Amino acid sequence: MNYRLLRFDCVASTMLVAHNFAMQSESEGLVIVADEQTAGRGRAGHTWFSPPTQSLYLSILLRPRLDPAQLNWLTMIGALAIIDTLQTMITTALTPPRPTIKWFNDVHLNGRKISGVLVESAFMGDAIDYSILGIGLNVNTQFISAPPDVQARATSLANEFRHKFDREIILNHLLAHFAQRYAQLGLPNTNPIHEYAHWLETIGRPVKMTLAKGIIEGIAESIAPDGALIIRDAQNHRHRCVYGEI
Ligand code: BTN
Repeated sequence: MNYRLLRFDCVASTMLVAHNFAMQSESEGLVIVADEQTAGRGRAGHTWFSPPTQSLYLSILLRPRLDPAQLNWLTMIGALAIIDTLQTMITTALTPPRPTIKWFNDVHLNGRKISGVLVESAFMGDAIDYSILGIGLNVNTQFISAPPDVQARATSLANEFRHKFDREIILNHLLAHFAQRYAQLGLPNTNPIHEYAHWLETIGRPVKMTLAKGIIEGIAESIAPDGALIIRDAQNHRHRCVYGEI
């Protein structure tokens, strides 16, 4: 991937900036990096806590040659690239914690959310025109001024390891790992499902999935090739959940 980095001190959301470039026919590989976001956004209408100069907020413009049914693969390789990066950064710890993925797009460390992936796409007819893959990675984030729900669930590398990390080094690892995984997507007979499932903490656990049509409770049984979570409820009915929150 031929990356071109564009850096901003402060933007509303790196996703918005990237969409603007994409709509002006910019080719893939453009990376928007900001030091701060005033309207950082997450999946399902959530906001992303984005205080200045503490963490990584970036969006990558992609023009993937994927079938729209495979779009979730982008979120998967994004999450896997974050796992790769965390593993690279924490190997020096005496007993490095194992990062995990919480379905669908959350990366956890020591049971708390450290990173998230957001993919937004535009279509031309039946084909993908472009996708923007956004990553927020809590590097040195302090959560004192964060909303209570973020304080309760989130963490950062600095919080977990009690020292600051270099954001530039992490950004370089992240982009390199992502490029490697994105290149593999183009190969025949490859898909990221098995590796994604390997890091998924959700399988085998009781879950409560909030969907537009209601709530489904049961055991997360498996993951379908398109990324949908299969939940078995108390009546032994299987539910295929494509877009929801657990
Ligand atoms: C989530 O966990 O729901 C996804 C969070 C994605 C946050 C990143 S930060 C950089 C990019 N810009 C945004 O506004 N959101 C993504």
